[in-house]
Amino acid sequence: MADVIAIDGPSASGKGTVASRVAEAFGMDYLDSGALYRLTALYAQRQGAAWSDGTAVAVLAANLPAEFADGKILLDGEDVGAEIRSEAVGMGASEVARHPEVRTALLQRQRDFQTASGLVADGRDMGSVVFPDAVLKIFLTASAQIRAQRRAAQLGLPCEGAAFERILSDIEARDEADRCREAAPLKQLPDALLLDTSDMGIEEAVKKVIDWYEQ
Ligand code: CDP
Repeated sequence: MADVIAIDGPSASGKGTVASRVAEAFGMDYLDSGALYRLTALYAQRQGAAWSDGTAVAVLAANLPAEFADGKILLDGEDVGAEIRSEAVGMGASEVARHPEVRTALLQRQRDFQTASGLVADGRDMGSVVFPDAVLKIFLTASAQIRAQRRAAQLGLPCEGAAFERILSDIEARDEADRCREAAPLKQLPDALLLDTSDMGIEEAVKKVIDWYEQ
């Protein structure tokens, strides 16, 4: 099997942008594993299953009618690319991701993204659980304040005031939930290289990953 580059890290760290740019640079495929958890949360909501019900959500996750086609994310044939990025669905993703049976239901589906072209995979447990044999493992992070500023900029909001404080507290809440859960808690692996992008632009972060891979 071709190489896998695993990029794990907390919410809004920019790992998705970095991972997709690195994939493009090497002509590799890209797996946004968070999108699968977001799709699972949205699908559960649409099917009337509570996010807290691990057994019911796992059955739905195992049969998730999702497709990644031409840069679009489809659920039951409908383009839900924008809908799954909402903060509410993000919270739902974080909740369904706590259930070990949901994680197991999504495991093979994530591994199926690995083809002969090579793969850059981003998430929380790419290097630890899904692709433990990845040739390069990176823990990509930035301070909560900087991540909140980036998310605010994405949403066209100012970096101060009530809306900003809410973004910051949402990020901190998700960090805590992802770090403190029992199933695949987010942490830096001993064999992962740390990439702290607090004082680094996207270009520099992409270059760093490319350099590490080529070394
Ligand atoms: O976009 P953001 O970085 O905020 O989140 P995401 O990567 O889209 O993931 C959404 C949620 O799914 C996270 O808060 C995690 O709880 C969960 N997740 C996970 O548990 N394992 C993964 N490999 C990817 C995401």
